[in-house]
Amino acid sequence: MQVGKAEILSVHFPRPKITVVGAGNVGATAAQYAVEKELGDVVLVDVIEGIPQGKALDLAQAGPVHGYDSALVGANGYDDTANSDIVVITAGLARKPGMTRDDLLFKNAEIVGSVVDQIVARSRNAILILVTNPLDAMVQLAWKRSGFPTSRVIGMAGILDSARFRTFIARELNVSVENVTAFVLGGHGDTMVPLPRYSTVAGIPITELLPKEKIDALVTRTANGGAEIVNFLKTGSAYYAPAASAIEMVEAILKDKKKILPCAAYLDGQYGVKGLYVGVPVKLGRRGVEQVIEITLTADEQAAFNKSAAAVRELVEKLKL
Ligand SMILES: NC(=O)c1ccc[n+]([C@@H]2O[C@H](COP(=O)([O-])OP(=O)(O)OC[C@H]3O[C@@H](n4cnc5c(N)ncnc54)[C@H](O)[C@@H]3O)[C@@H](O)[C@H]2O)c1
Repeated sequence: MQVGKAEILSVHFPRPKITVVGAGNVGATAAQYAVEKELGDVVLVDVIEGIPQGKALDLAQAGPVHGYDSALVGANGYDDTANSDIVVITAGLARKPGMTRDDLLFKNAEIVGSVVDQIVARSRNAILILVTNPLDAMVQLAWKRSGFPTSRVIGMAGILDSARFRTFIARELNVSVENVTAFVLGGHGDTMVPLPRYSTVAGIPITELLPKEKIDALVTRTANGGAEIVNFLKTGSAYYAPAASAIEMVEAILKDKKKILPCAAYLDGQYGVKGLYVGVPVKLGRRGVEQVIEITLTADEQAAFNKSAAAVRELVEKLKL
């Protein structure tokens, strides 16, 4: 197509295709952040008739105001997802008050399994980012079911848990969240392992800035961060920060940023764990997980990590993959 003398480049270089499965709170917000950052064109899929179509159209109509050209399509089937570069899977049930992530295990395993089958049949080279809970078990299931290499099946949890920790640290010290880095390892659940020694404000470990009792209180609040929001919302769970976290992964991958981020990644002996997805720092680039970063843990930290990995393994074993 010609506009004046200039040929539109997208004819030759199409934008990356991002599929988001599940057009609920996390999925729709992830689609929103993806197009606002112009990371690619978005296909939004959900089983509820009309919801993905309506949300995709509404979001497309925010484009002229926000200034993005990404194309958005909503669908109840998978044909439009063909040849996706990246697929964010948020389909499933969210936690209700009093419900643990583990309660969701069997129902969401059924949903995620069928979603993965549909995606794999049409996008053999895609990178899968799992969001559905219980996260670590769902990513292990998606990996097995897809037959994809471990580098192309990744779970989102650590970025969210770290973002929560960073928020609490910044508020406590009255500094910009941008100055705060934090590391949270382990499974996404009550056994997650925040690492204060590796959490810093402008490079200074928080262990030099806050007393131990204060850090312990922030760590506890981080570990209960999801439940705190569920208790407020009552009819759903957190979605702004989860969606932002998933999109940070999408961006790191599509832009080949080689960004070090905590994600649920497959461990093959690293941190003393073999054959299991657990939250660890990884390098994310265009090939997905390009490296698992091993950091030195103290005996206490390693013990907490082992406990967390054991909780993940117990859950995964229930799935009999
Ligand atoms: N990993 C994390 O850190 C994290 C954070 C937040 C939420 N979550 C999880 O993400 C999931 C989604 O949360 P939410 O708040 O968006 O829930 P939601 O209920 O708002 O949305 C889920 C959507 O999935 C759809 N769905 C159900 N079965 C489907 C199927 N077979 N195919 C396609 N779509 C299907 C539903 O119709 C619904 O629209 C939940 O499992 C939640 O626990 C994980």
